[in-house]
Amino acid sequence: MRALIIQDDRAVKVEERPVPTLQSHDFLLRVTTLGLNPTDFKSVGANPIGARVGSDCVGIVEEVGSDVPSGKVAKGQRRALLTRPNQERGAFAEYIAVKWDEENWLVPDEVTDEQAATTPVPAYTAVLGLFGKTRLALPQPPRNGQGSSDKTIYVHAGSTSVGVYVIQLAKMAGLRVISSSSEHNWPLLRKLGADEVLDYRDSDLVEKVKKLANGGVDAVYDCFTEGGALQKSVETLKPDGRATCILPYDPASLGKRAEQTEATMVYSMTSQAASDEATDFRGLKLKADPSSFQLFSEWTERFHELGKAGKLQFVRTVDGGSLEDVQAGLEKLKAGKLSGEKLVYKV
Ligand SMILES: NC(=O)c1ccc[n+]([C@@H]2O[C@H](COP(=O)([O-])OP(=O)(O)OC[C@H]3O[C@@H](n4cnc5c(N)ncnc54)[C@H](OP(=O)(O)O)[C@@H]3O)[C@@H](O)[C@H]2O)c1
Repeated sequence: MRALIIQDDRAVKVEERPVPTLQSHDFLLRVTTLGLNPTDFKSVGANPIGARVGSDCVGIVEEVGSDVPSGKVAKGQRRALLTRPNQERGAFAEYIAVKWDEENWLVPDEVTDEQAATTPVPAYTAVLGLFGKTRLALPQPPRNGQGSSDKTIYVHAGSTSVGVYVIQLAKMAGLRVISSSSEHNWPLLRKLGADEVLDYRDSDLVEKVKKLANGGVDAVYDCFTEGGALQKSVETLKPDGRATCILPYDPASLGKRAEQTEATMVYSMTSQAASDEATDFRGLKLKADPSSFQLFSEWTERFHELGKAGKLQFVRTVDGGSLEDVQAGLEKLKAGKLSGEKLVYKV
C-alpha cells in the first residue's frame, strides 16, 4: 500500500509499505480522506527519519478482528480516526489497523468524508479542554438538548480548527462566548455561535474582553497560545477563573495566573496513552486526567449524534489533492496560509 514517510530532508514522500496485519482487537480501515493539522508538520520535523505520518483520517471498515465486541464496529462503516503517528503506523496511508476503542467515531450519512476529516484532533482537543476534569471542567451539555450556564468563556483565536469546535461546544453547554479572530472571520465566529467578536490584534483586547464580561471571564480557552497570546488571555480571567491552552508555555511568565492554567494536550490523554501520571508536554508537566478516556468515548457517540442531527458545523475544507500533494500542504500550513479552513486530501 502507499504510505507517507519522513525523508532525510524532512519532507514527506509516498513509499510502499505492507498492508497492516490485523490483531484480534483491531479493525482495518481503508483510508479515503485525510485532514491536515499543524501537529503533522511538527511531527515531520521531530519524529525519526523513516517514520510514518498523519493523525486524522476517515475511511471505510474493511475487516473486523475476532475480539472486537459485537455491535461496536461493522464492515462497511465510515469512521473518522484520531491517532498519533509513529515508526510503523500513521493516518496518511491507504490502510490503517485501528484498536476498536481508539478515538474514532462512526460517520453518519449526513456528514461527508471531508467534513469528518476536519474533526478528530481539533474536536477531541476542544472536548478535553472544555470538559476535562483537570482542564476547564465545565458542565457538559445535556445529551439531547441545550445546556444552560451563567458562565462566560473567552475563546482566543476562534477561527482556528480547534476554536471552531470550542465555540460550538461551549454554546451547546450554554455559556456566553466572547471570541477573537481576524475581522474577515467574524461572520464565521458569529455563525458558530459567538456572542461577541473581537480582533486578536486589538491593543485593548484584554480590556475589551473584561468589559464585555463585566470585569472578567470565568474561563479562557486559548487556541493560539504563542507569541505572548496566553499571557494576555489569562489577564481576562476573574480571580477564580480557569484557563487552558494548546501549546507548552513557561508557567513563570503567567505569574499568579499560572495556578489557574492547565494546558490541554490531546495526544497524552487518548485511550492509547491514558495515564494517571502527569505527562511532559515539551518540558511542561501536565496534570493527568484519567477520566479523559471515558470523556472521549462519550463524545465519540455524541459526534455521531450531532452529525446525524445536523447540529455540528464543520471547519470549511479546501481540497489539497492526493497523498502526493501533502508535502505542499504541510508547507502551506507551516507558513500560516490557512484562515478558518482545513486542507483535506483524497487517498
Ligand atoms: N495541544 C493539543 O492537543 C493540540 C491539538 C490541536 C492543535 N494544537 C495546536 O493548536 C494550534 C492551532 O491548531 P489548529 O489546527 O486549530 O490551527 P489552524 O486551524 O491551522 O489555525 C489557523 C488559524 O490561526 C489563526 N491565527 C494565525 N495567527 C494568529 C495569531 N497571531 N493569533 C491568533 N490566531 C492566529 C488564523 O486566524 P485568522 O485567519 O482569523 O487571523 C487561522 O484561522 C497549533 O499550534 C496546533 O499545533 C494543539
